[in-house]
Amino acid sequence: MRKKIIAGNWKMNYCVNKGEAFVEEIKNSINTDEVDVVICPNFVSLDRISDAIDGTSVKLGAQNVYFEDKGAYTGETSVDMLAAVGVSYCIVGHSERRQYFAETDEIVNKKAKKLLEKDICPIVCVGETLEERESNTMFEVVEKEVRDSLADIDKELIANKVVIAYEPIWAIGTGKTATAEQANEMCKFIREVVAKMYDEATAEKVRIQYGGSVKPSNANEILNMSDIDGALVGGASLTNDFVAIVNY
Ligand code: 13P
Repeated sequence: MRKKIIAGNWKMNYCVNKGEAFVEEIKNSINTDEVDVVICPNFVSLDRISDAIDGTSVKLGAQNVYFEDKGAYTGETSVDMLAAVGVSYCIVGHSERRQYFAETDEIVNKKAKKLLEKDICPIVCVGETLEERESNTMFEVVEKEVRDSLADIDKELIANKVVIAYEPIWAIGTGKTATAEQANEMCKFIREVVAKMYDEATAEKVRIQYGGSVKPSNANEILNMSDIDGALVGGASLTNDFVAIVNY
């Protein structure tokens, strides 16, 4: 039985004081062992949010990382730096990073591997554009992203540490949710790709989230689908809606 994982991706929202106040307000309502709950604030808020969730079951996630250990990489943040403030998950390859910051599958793969070296769980995002869905190429697009982003990662790590987030780009921030059937169909397909890359046992264990306009009104249906093991929540993670989603 795969434990559900619900992560809030704050994106570039909330300065530290506001984020901290929000976490203080909701933390007791999202303190649960039934699902893994992760909050992913911006880099400069990680340390304070780490303190704010201390003593709860809520985990800290980052939104990005760099794949080198240290050195002259102005503006970048290493895996050790994340670990030092208590980060245990990190989103990689979000479509916004792929789109605005030219992040490729190869870069995503390097980041995921570096995170795993330091025992931080990567949340690896994949998903098709509207054009790709309409031209019916979404399965090959997503398969390539999964294969290339997860290349050369040990199957034990895939089964136990890696989280895959299926986020159709056309459903992000648009209010347009994939139907629960569409979301499940792709998550199931991703699981089949993992089975082809590794084996059935690994595919059965890997956790696959859905992300894209998840809200209290659709969370229950989405989270009860056979192959959806959680949600990666954007806009709704900034309000009390996140509490309702966690308690779906
Ligand atoms: P929304 O929930 O705002 O659509 O964002 C989804 C997302 O991109 C989470 O990473």
